[in-house]
Amino acid sequence: MCGIVGYLGRDEAYPILIKGLKRLEYRGYDSAGVALIDGQGELNVYKAKGKVSDLETYCEGKDTSGSIGIAHTRWATHGEPSATNAHPHYSASGRLALIHNGIIENYATIKENLQSLGVSFRSATDTEVLVQLIEHIQKSNDLDLLGAVQVALHQVIGAYAIAILDREHPDTLICARQSSPLVVGLGGDGDFYLASDASPIAEYTDKVVYLNDGDIAVMQLGHDLQVVNIDNEEQHPKVRQIDITLGQLEKGGYPYFMLKEIFEQPGCIRDCMRGRINVDADRITLSAVIDYREKLVAARRIIIVACGTSWHAGLIGKQLFESLCRIPVEVEYASEFRYREPVIFPDDVVIAISQSGETADTLAAIELARKSGAFVFGVCNAIGASIPRQTQTGVYIHVGPEIGVASTKAFTGQVTVLSMLALCLANERRTIDGARYKELVAELTRIPEKMEQALKTNEQIERLAPIFTYARNCLYLGRGYNYPVALEGALKLKEISYIHAEGYPAAEMKHGPIALIDSEMPVFVIATRDKLYDKVISNIQEVRARGGRVTALVTEGDERIRQFADHVIELPDTVECFQPLMAAIPLQLLAYHIAVCKGKDVDRPRNLAKSVTVE
Ligand code: AGP
Ligand code: GLU
Repeated sequence: MCGIVGYLGRDEAYPILIKGLKRLEYRGYDSAGVALIDGQGELNVYKAKGKVSDLETYCEGKDTSGSIGIAHTRWATHGEPSATNAHPHYSASGRLALIHNGIIENYATIKENLQSLGVSFRSATDTEVLVQLIEHIQKSNDLDLLGAVQVALHQVIGAYAIAILDREHPDTLICARQSSPLVVGLGGDGDFYLASDASPIAEYTDKVVYLNDGDIAVMQLGHDLQVVNIDNEEQHPKVRQIDITLGQLEKGGYPYFMLKEIFEQPGCIRDCMRGRINVDADRITLSAVIDYREKLVAARRIIIVACGTSWHAGLIGKQLFESLCRIPVEVEYASEFRYREPVIFPDDVVIAISQSGETADTLAAIELARKSGAFVFGVCNAIGASIPRQTQTGVYIHVGPEIGVASTKAFTGQVTVLSMLALCLANERRTIDGARYKELVAELTRIPEKMEQALKTNEQIERLAPIFTYARNCLYLGRGYNYPVALEGALKLKEISYIHAEGYPAAEMKHGPIALIDSEMPVFVIATRDKLYDKVISNIQEVRARGGRVTALVTEGDERIRQFADHVIELPDTVECFQPLMAAIPLQLLAYHIAVCKGKDVDRPRNLAKSVTVE
């Protein structure tokens, strides 16, 4: 959940570390800290509660010199957010400093043992046991740092990405990974960068090594990167090239990343389709489908596993695969699936959807599916993340780094990939006729342009937003393909404005939620023209009859709903199965503007983190 940054080289480390933390702040932001070894061999550790900017203020006037350092932005799991619980944690003698992302599950036992041996602790975190344990092992066994780390990690149960500094070895940085992401950047002068994802590294080098579970990397100035495991066996992770531009990592004139990412969607969806849909816009080619055609075409069932927004995209995928490919689909919360003893057949195809590619529950669901012999397919955004590496094949959504904690462009990217995959499989399985296939492929290529039009609702929504800031509850209704969009709209509002919101299938409202409706409760209804249009109109009437205030998303030119809705937002027309790609946009904008009106920090909503690497 947290962000880890490290640097070892010839430049001053502090500015590199702070800049890196800012790039990773979306991962966690309740406290931050930095540890540096200066030219005299002093290890200086500075920590502050709050954001990275609070850490910077705290560091003003302090000695932040040194060309080796580690830094951390925290998302607390054990111990409240405070300067004491912030990372880096340092060892009893002050010789070692350590940062950690993840959870040490057996920390209490280790802590008790160390306490009985006289080691005292400063913080309430699970992390501190690691640094105290490593120092204790180092002292009592006369081991070097690598040896002590290896012995310590043998005793640890849990998930971690760690980085450690030893003031006795100011030219060496050690890090290790187990279930939490870690990337090493290889600079041109034998210098090293370290981070939870490639975004803090991209401006210095394009050569990176994604560590695998069990890897321990030793970075020594002027030497090649050495990677071993806890048994000291040499590992050979690949050096990869990354392709992230600085523009993708910056706000580009928008007040928030979320707004930038909402507006980027037409371009992102073009990128997502590029090279996959031919110039005549009548054929989709996905290399994963070519390589694994038989497995995919013969799928007896598809099980989609995901969390949050990605799960909502999965619900849309279900309708696409069922109606276009006639394959039965189950959509599972990864966190439930992993513990439920699900029935998985070897001819099932499991599709794991994840923006970050690091979600712990989704990774565990993948592992379970693989153990059961199912074929696992990934739909991911972050290049080189754990999920694409642990699935047999998959498709990247290619929407570029998503920084805003509330997912927007990743959702539409996921829906686009699922649409392309469903169309490919439907064509291979001959479950749609050729003319319909071509018609849908051509319509998919028109979506980015239609999204541009949908984004024009921004001004209208900005004007409407203040009306809804008073609300304590909101209801989002949709049917068919638009039901998951209602869920997603409600999630967006909850996440960033802290207004309680429920998404419901419109017809299900009368079985309970209708009791909540009064003139105080805004009801947002997706009522675009599709086969359930008339039914949705009846649902709107049911809301109106109870004094409810309706804001309806309609197809452009719709005059019927205008007569009885309080507000109408018009969207470009498209085929039913691609309507989510239109309807998602005004709901993202609505959540955004309501949150801004309420003065909330849209990119860093309270209690959330971008990448949920703990279960
Ligand atoms: C979306 O706005 C969320 N913050 C969250 O629900 C997210 O979609 C979920 O944590 C899954 O993340 P992933 O796609 O990176 O796996
Ligand atoms: N479990 C650790 C803590 O609570 C690390 C959390 C994180 O990944 O930020 O400090």
